[in-house]
Amino acid sequence: MHALPPHFSRQNNVLHLEGVSLQALAAEFGTPTYVYSAAAITHAYQAYTTALAGRKARIHYALKANSNLSLLKLLHGLGAGFDLVSGGELACALAVGAKGADIVFSGVGKSVAEMRAAFAADVGCFNIESIPELDRLNEVALSVGKVANVSVRVNPDVDPKTHPYISTGLKENKFGVAKEAAVALYQRAASLPGIAVAGIDFHIGSQITTISPYLDAVDRMLDLVEAIEAAGVPIHHLDLGGGIGIAYEGEDVPPLGEFITAMLAKLDARGHGHRPLMFEPGRSIVGNAGVLLTTVEYLKPTPAKDYAIVDAAMNDLMRPALYQAYHGMTEVVSSQCAPHTYDVVGPVCESGDWLGKERNLALRPGDTLAILSAGAYAMSMASNYNIRPRGAEVMVMGSSYRVVSLRENVPAMLASQLGLLN
Ligand code: LLP
Repeated sequence: MHALPPHFSRQNNVLHLEGVSLQALAAEFGTPTYVYSAAAITHAYQAYTTALAGRKARIHYALKANSNLSLLKLLHGLGAGFDLVSGGELACALAVGAKGADIVFSGVGKSVAEMRAAFAADVGCFNIESIPELDRLNEVALSVGKVANVSVRVNPDVDPKTHPYISTGLKENKFGVAKEAAVALYQRAASLPGIAVAGIDFHIGSQITTISPYLDAVDRMLDLVEAIEAAGVPIHHLDLGGGIGIAYEGEDVPPLGEFITAMLAKLDARGHGHRPLMFEPGRSIVGNAGVLLTTVEYLKPTPAKDYAIVDAAMNDLMRPALYQAYHGMTEVVSSQCAPHTYDVVGPVCESGDWLGKERNLALRPGDTLAILSAGAYAMSMASNYNIRPRGAEVMVMGSSYRVVSLRENVPAMLASQLGLLN
């Protein structure tokens, strides 16, 4: 087992998040349950803002990582803006009091309805990714009598060396606009009556654990900024995309402050340090602030390997099945029995339903297991596959805690269909 993330500790053999026993939470709320630390979220957010002190810069939390409303409210209260990619995420941001100016609307496939909703909320910037999208946005803007502030997501074509499903800035990815096409697109944008050019953005991928791909991307973006401005279109802000990755497996990830400082140094060295900046981090703010609690149902020896079958599954945490992702695991109450090597799997009827492979854990049926780094892309990617209700969410603050999302229940899940039976 690697070191526990910050804000986790073991007190008398019991895993705690801040001052709260995770065994007590599992007993009170059942499992699977996601638990988040307000202190860890605050700390990560402030690592960004501290490194950006004195700059014209804003953190727009990418709420796809975790869109729990109480978590969003916490970040909004700390001063964060939001980066969102759907009408649903827009509704989340508005529900916690965000104003249009706090919002950047990203995403490769915005519908007319989503654009209209975004205009109604007066969102601060639309990050657009293609000519057809630019043209549609112009038409919708004219139809509602508004002008859209626009940033174009350019594709710097750098290889971030992360999992292929979460690398987004290569020229073969569906995202962004090719570098070669950017100048012409900006000229077109500047000529459209419903569009006001505001900035430029990139996002090269997620869970990138070294700084150098970001610096390469900044260099390429700045080359473009200079070319676009030379062609007569002024660019105001620079949006430098998502945050650096997190340690899932004891990886040596640069601290958030170091990541930001390196980007700022690059901007300064290239003479662009005066420009307003935006960042859109998700995972690095919430990923290691959360845990998924699950209960061991059965220990199942087979001739090939031994399984620990737990009550959380791929529908609760999809990352292992989808990306072969590693999540640390630890017993919530330790030293209860001798450790043994298990594949930790869920009850879903798929061989891809695994949460961890060959883990050395001391488990007995009924024990609670903590799956770490489950604050980002866990609940937000959860589904109801196998008609499994999604788990509860709890936020801890010091030694207090509160439920921030109720466990789903089967009758409510069936309600949209029951009335339609004939
Ligand atoms: N901005 C844009 C335009 C994005 O597409 C993303 C993530 C972010 C910001 C936030 O990136 P972050 O700071 O979280 O790395 N489900 C995958 C991750 C997909 C990320 C997609 N875009 C996973 O579980 O690893």
